Amino acid sequence: MSGVLLWREILPEWAGVQMQYNRRLAEVTGDRSKAWALPKINQIHLPEMKRTDRCITCHAGINNPKMAGQPQPFASHPDLGIPGFLQKHSFNEIGCTVCHHGQGSAVEKKAAHGPVKHWHEPLLEKGLTAAACATCHKNARNLAGAERLQKAWALFEEKGCIGCHNLHSKGMLIGPELAETYSKSPDQFDFKYIQGEETVALWIAEHFKDPQRVVPGYPKLGVPETPMPNYGLTEEEVSLLTALTISFSLEEENEEHPIPARFHVPAGLPEPQPVYASKAEQGAAVFQKVGCIGCHGPQGRGGIVNRNMDIGEEVPPLTHVSDGYSKEELKEIIRDGRYPARAQKDGLAPPLWMPSWKDKLTLEELDAVVEYLYSLNPEKPEQA
Ligand code: HEC
Ligand code: HEC
Ligand code: HEC
Ligand code: HEC
Ligand code: HEC
Repeated sequence: MSGVLLWREILPEWAGVQMQYNRRLAEVTGDRSKAWALPKINQIHLPEMKRTDRCITCHAGINNPKMAGQPQPFASHPDLGIPGFLQKHSFNEIGCTVCHHGQGSAVEKKAAHGPVKHWHEPLLEKGLTAAACATCHKNARNLAGAERLQKAWALFEEKGCIGCHNLHSKGMLIGPELAETYSKSPDQFDFKYIQGEETVALWIAEHFKDPQRVVPGYPKLGVPETPMPNYGLTEEEVSLLTALTISFSLEEENEEHPIPARFHVPAGLPEPQPVYASKAEQGAAVFQKVGCIGCHGPQGRGGIVNRNMDIGEEVPPLTHVSDGYSKEELKEIIRDGRYPARAQKDGLAPPLWMPSWKDKLTLEELDAVVEYLYSLNPEKPEQA
């Protein structure tokens, strides 16, 4: 009796897992000798990428098609229904953590999958793995197998995130640069209003669910709550935007885990320029692309909270600007931007302002966007 107990206590977790694997392999192949193979630590050593992945110590059947359909961690790797997926990504050459993250060198499940202290890349949850495709694929948003990024990108454009955020140094600086978010350490985020393991992925997801709950500010110290809109996103949309945000950081070069040039898959041809039926239609596309929607809402209908402005508590809608402004005046406002005046002079500055678009729009785009604003006024159709 005590002998059995002792055996369990001294047998490392990975060895037990591998012994179970060996027994299954013997059953599947009918080769009984396999059942008695001595367990050993197996690894994929990738000095160029500065990674050593020992995942296959437990996930021992990952390359063995005969192990398809076995329970985890014994099963062969899914092919995602993409012909050639497994051939194009030889695990012996690229390992596991480049796509899954996790602590490659660990041989205990808890440490390997994470989260653990001082390891900033815990195993990506199932819906988030698509983010890692962007590590090598420069056009991951159009990639078979990464359709989640495509859906998420559509949402990103629809909400006009880029009107407030920089992405790879393009966009606006009202909110943080989004390509840096997932490279930050968990210590750089405040988890006070979040329950669960303190990972950056969790913080990002919780923040999407309710930005004001996660970043309520310190009103007593004069720090307002975040002006990032609460979009009332579904769980699925939260997961999509979290994957997309993670992918932005992974698109950047990573010195800690470099990717050799031969694994970079360049972006394909740029998308053809769409043809527009009218200036106003082109302007609608610009309005969306550069993120005016982020502050002025879809079709410029407003609804985005901005506290303590003298003109109200919401960024103004733009549906009636043609009543008050000539086209030239509108161009000037858009080119130069504006800081809203405070309603209460001793109150907090409104967190959102009208940025200057001088360097961000071509003259043609500026013209088009103004035509679009004029077209929004239902009572006042086309006029000069
Ligand atoms: C000590 C053994 C062990 C090691 C080492 C290990 N795993 Fe696992 N892994 C498991 C087990 C057991 C499961 C089955 C599901 C569970 O218990 O969480 C699993 C499940 C998984 C899953 C599926 C998760 C899910 O939600 O179904 C993935 C993906 C995975 N492992 C990836 C990795 C990667 C990548 C590494 C290396 C960084 C790794 N594992 C290292 C034991 C291990
Ligand atoms: C090229 C990227 C890539 C590499 C490299 C990769 N995987 Fe995966 N893996 C995926 C994707 C994508 C899935 C599908 C599930 C998901 O989206 O998370 C998956 C699924 C899995 C699953 C099954 C999860 C489930 O619930 O069915 C396991 C286990 C797993 N991988 C382990 C590994 C191990 C171990 C390695 C290294 C030997 C590895 N993977 C290498 C991309 C990769
Ligand atoms: C370590 C780098 C790396 C990662 C990470 C990676 N890939 Fe790839 N992938 C490649 C390379 C290299 C090729 C081969 C390109 C070629 O044949 O020219 C490739 C080819 C492909 C192909 C074949 C079609 C094509 O566009 O060339 C698909 C589909 C694909 N990858 C999907 C994925 C998906 C989905 C993920 C994320 C789960 C992913 N890849 C992650 C490097 C990577
Ligand atoms: C009206 C301006 C505005 C819009 C629109 C907006 N955000 Fe934000 N966002 C902010 C501000 C300001 C912060 C910083 C305060 C905070 O953490 O909430 C922020 C924070 C974030 C963070 C945390 C970044 C970090 O590194 O700390 C992420 C991720 C994020 N936003 C993503 C998005 C996405 C994706 C969208 C579109 C769906 C979006 N935001 C739309 C203003 C905005
Ligand atoms: C980061 C938030 C933000 C973004 C993005 C933004 N605006 Fe504004 N905009 C504002 C604020 C705040 C005001 C109100 C300024 C004030 O108090 O005068 C404003 C005012 C305006 C006005 C004047 C409205 C009036 O009734 O006086 C126009 C026109 C306008 N914006 C057009 C645009 C266009 C076009 C875009 C995209 C190219 C855009 N804005 C993007 C925040 C934004």
